[in-house]
Amino acid sequence: MRTAIVSAMQEELSAVLALLPDEQKQAVGGRDYWVGHLHGQEVVAVLSRIGKVAAATTATALIERFGVDRIVFTGVAGGLAPGVNRGDVVIARSFLQHDLDASPLFPRYEVPLYGTAQFDTDPALTEQLAAAVRKALHGTHVHSGLVVSGDRFVASALESQALQRALPEALAVEMEGAAFAQVCRDYGLPFAAVRTVSDRADDEAHGDFLSFIDQVASRHSAAIVKALLEG
Ligand code: ADE
Repeated sequence: MRTAIVSAMQEELSAVLALLPDEQKQAVGGRDYWVGHLHGQEVVAVLSRIGKVAAATTATALIERFGVDRIVFTGVAGGLAPGVNRGDVVIARSFLQHDLDASPLFPRYEVPLYGTAQFDTDPALTEQLAAAVRKALHGTHVHSGLVVSGDRFVASALESQALQRALPEALAVEMEGAAFAQVCRDYGLPFAAVRTVSDRADDEAHGDFLSFIDQVASRHSAAIVKALLEG
């Protein structure tokens, strides 16, 4: 069983790499893939970079070149739904691309030719990830449900309110998850994702995001990954 551990930010990847005793670097497609072990399990850790295209490239290389059996994404997100606050954790049950609109050819948000707007994460792997979060982060408020992705950093109350009105079930917004979910669906690979809420996608999002990445996000990622692979 080979597990891919993907982060979007260098700080998170560094914290995960600190857990691997034996990682070896392989460069593919302008990225460094770190192949090693954690608790005796084979892992490939990589920085996806930011956005859906970067995410799709990374997912495809992980599957085609590195032969991973499952992909786990750890990162941060902006909270959207009321009560999804900074420092909370969101476990994705499904993903949707909030910036996809091929109407009138296809309904708003529907991914053309898939007949759906949402891709679910793998229920069993998501359950393992949720258990790892409970074990690693006692006392943290955990939400699970729909996460939306798009090639925009949402950084105004106006935009986040518009997203909430359009997609009331969305718990949080980020920039990669839906692309991973779609590629993993294409290849029939289990995918799960956990996001710590770094900001509320509002007028303070930029400053909140930057301070959070340093303070909390990398600690969360590493603790969750460790707990997941310890089983
Ligand atoms: N990731 C973390 N915060 C975000 C935001 N406000 N918008 C998009 N992606 C994010």
